[in-house]
Order: sequence, then C-alpha cells, then structure tokens
Amino acid sequence: MALTVILTGQVLSFRGSPFDGDPAQATRLDEAIALGDGRVVALGSLSDLRAQFPDAPIEHHGARVLMAGFVDAHVHYPQTAIIASWGKRLIDWLNTYTFPEETRFSDPRYAAEIATRYLDVTVKEGTTTICSYCTIHPQSVDAIMTAAQARGQRIIAGKTCMDRNAPEGLRDTAQSAYDDSRALLQRWHGTDRLSYAITPRFSPTSTPEQLDALGALWAEHPECLMQTHLSEQTDEIAWVKTLYPQARDYLDTYEAHGLLGANGLYGHAIHLEPRERDRLREVGGALIHCPTSNSFIGSGLFDMAARMAEGQRVGLATDTGGGSSFSMLRTMAAAYEIGQLSGTALHPAQLLWLATCGSARALRLGDRIGNLAPGMEADLIALDLASTPAISQRASRADDIWEALFPTIMMGDDRAIAQVWIAGRAQVSTPDAPAP
Ligand code: GUN
Ligand code: ZN
Repeated sequence: MALTVILTGQVLSFRGSPFDGDPAQATRLDEAIALGDGRVVALGSLSDLRAQFPDAPIEHHGARVLMAGFVDAHVHYPQTAIIASWGKRLIDWLNTYTFPEETRFSDPRYAAEIATRYLDVTVKEGTTTICSYCTIHPQSVDAIMTAAQARGQRIIAGKTCMDRNAPEGLRDTAQSAYDDSRALLQRWHGTDRLSYAITPRFSPTSTPEQLDALGALWAEHPECLMQTHLSEQTDEIAWVKTLYPQARDYLDTYEAHGLLGANGLYGHAIHLEPRERDRLREVGGALIHCPTSNSFIGSGLFDMAARMAEGQRVGLATDTGGGSSFSMLRTMAAAYEIGQLSGTALHPAQLLWLATCGSARALRLGDRIGNLAPGMEADLIALDLASTPAISQRASRADDIWEALFPTIMMGDDRAIAQVWIAGRAQVSTPDAPAP
C-alpha cells in the first residue's frame, strides 16, 4: 500500500455552499486528515485515523487551519513582471504596460523564466491551481504547462488569441488562432494534471471571423473550458458597441459566434444587462470575480450578493497583473471590501469557499480539487492564524474559528501560508507546529 501520512490541525472542509443558508453550517472541522497516493484518504479524529493507519507517520500542525489550496480562476501569468503598474485604466493599461510586455514572450527562454517565477511566487501564497491566459505565442503555453507539469500541479491555460486592435508582433489571424489553439489543445489537454482553455482575449481584439473560428474549435472540443473577458469597464462596453453594431449587448458578441456555454468563463462581468444575466444563468456559464483588479484599474463594483441570489456560478480570481496582488488572501479581503461597498458583508466561510470550492466549481473541477474529502486530490495548505504580531493580537481575542480566521483573511500574506501540499507533496519547508 502507498505511504499514508496523517496531518493534525484544524481541518476545515465544506459540506455544502455557505451561500445556501447559515454559512458556518456549510463547513466541517476535523482533528486530522490522512493523505496517500496524492489524494485525501480520510478525515476524522486522530484516534480514528491512527487506528485505521497504525504505521502512518503523524505531522502535527497545532492550531493551524488545514484546508484546500486556493484556486485562482483567472490570471495572466505573462503579466507577472508588470503587476502594480501605475495610473491607467483598462484600454490605456493594456496598450501602455501589457501589450509591450506580452510581446517579449516570443522568446521561449523569457516565457520559461516568467512561468517559473510566477509558479514560485504563487505557491508561496497558497495557490495550488490557476487558470491562466498566456500570450498569442504558442511557446507561452508550452512554458507554463511544462513548469506546472514538473511540479505535478493542476493548471488550466490557453493561448490568448488577438487578430486586431493589438500591436504588430502581438496579432495572429482567425486561421492561425484556430490551428495553434488546436495543436496546443491536442498537446496538453488531459496530459497529467493539465487542461487547455480556448482563449479569445475579448471581443475588441478579435474579428468576428476569429470568434467564429474559436467557436468552431469549442464545438469540436466541448470538454474544454473557454475563457474570455466580459463587461469590465464602461468605456470598453461602449467600444464593443461600435465594433459589433449588430450585437444586442456585449455577451451577444460571444453568443453569436458559438462562445457562450456551460464551460465558459467570463472574467469580471461587472456591468451586465438583464438579458446577459439571464443568458449566463440559463446556460450555466461562470462569472469570475476579480476584486483587486476591479478597484486597481477602476472598473466597478461586482455585486456578489445579487449574482449569488439569482443563481449564477461565481469563481474568485486575482487577475494578475491587472489585479494588484498574487495572493488569494488579499483577493478575499478585496471581495469583502467590495461586498461592503455594495451593502453585503460576506462571511469568512463564504470568502474561503469562493477561493476554493467556488473557483473549482467554476472551472468544472469541483469533484477533484477545492475541498477536502476522501478521494479528492491532495492539494492543501496550512494556514497560520498568528503569522504577524498584528494578526496574532486580534486573533487571540476570537471567540470562534471565524473570528480567528477573519484577521488572516483581511491582513494576511504569504507569511500566513505555513505549508502547501501539491498532490500530497509538501512544497515549503517550515518547522512543524508544536504538538497540541
Ligand atoms: N481585458 C482584455 N485583456 C485584459 C487583461 O489582460 N486584463 C484585464 N484586467 N482585462 C482585460
Ligand atoms: Zn484578465
């Protein structure tokens, strides 16, 4: 039998969605978890797991919270080196910072360097799965897939397609977008833990012919995810109207070209018309909320409570590097702040669910990652709830686990991530917490 290890701590998992009923009731706390063969084997009391696995070594994590690793449902790994660039809104920001940087990914060595840097940074933040845009260059996909494969990491990525309104050197064509995406999909989709996402950047940088070609590719491979951007800024929406005069609304520019579906991921989706909301809910497409990006680039307030109440599927994401942080802790804090500005205080269980289960469900991976349950892949983290003096002094006053967790959600950073396991393998070397 494969080696099993038992971890002790405050093992936090979800039995349902904390958006349905009392948020705390959707969670479960166990004393220990057993991992084996890259999967979760069992959760329960230490004595039960000891009896079940008498030879298993035991690693004590004291008061640390052991939970699923974070799932970041929308990132641009090629924007790693231009994160936190000053002073621009969306279209200017793309032209000034993003497009010149993405041009550099024609060099496979640069792509490999940034892919490695990105995964090194994000694993320390507790992120175990990402869904990433790449650049128009096929080698940018090879770079992130190769780097993730070497780590045994589950990721999703796709070649970003653009055939207009982008600079020379950063444009493909309808045909080459189809051909290159198809070749990459065949190379990577389903290899180890890797998946391919068909990736038109957004309507303004694709001709209707390119959207048609990618819609046709998606129809041939409906098992793949399709990711794009939707209704992020009002200037962008006005531009889309001029580029697609026949479209009923922004979503229609995708719908008319075969790019609306249950496996679709629609990034931002802030300023939606009623028809767009109805269609997204009817088809079951996922809305990906990127709160640090929405405030950093000045995009607007995503109304989480309203979207959840109307039954949308929602994931949470950093949107690196339009987002101002690599950290899903910081991203949960921003989601909380945007919720407050829209009149709703999101419960810590809801924030943690969005960053794990919610994003995994948006990525159609909810049966494999994003939660701790027997048979699920062993991607998890140990959270230190006293990682800085400022957090520790607040958490020490807490009456329950939610009050103890919330200061780490609001003020925590990579120092709160005491350990990360990818497919059961520990990634960060930190001393064990003292035994209870
Ligand atoms: N819309 C189209 N491309 C992008 C991008 O790279 N970042 C963000 N935030 N929005 C976009
Ligand atoms: Zn984006």
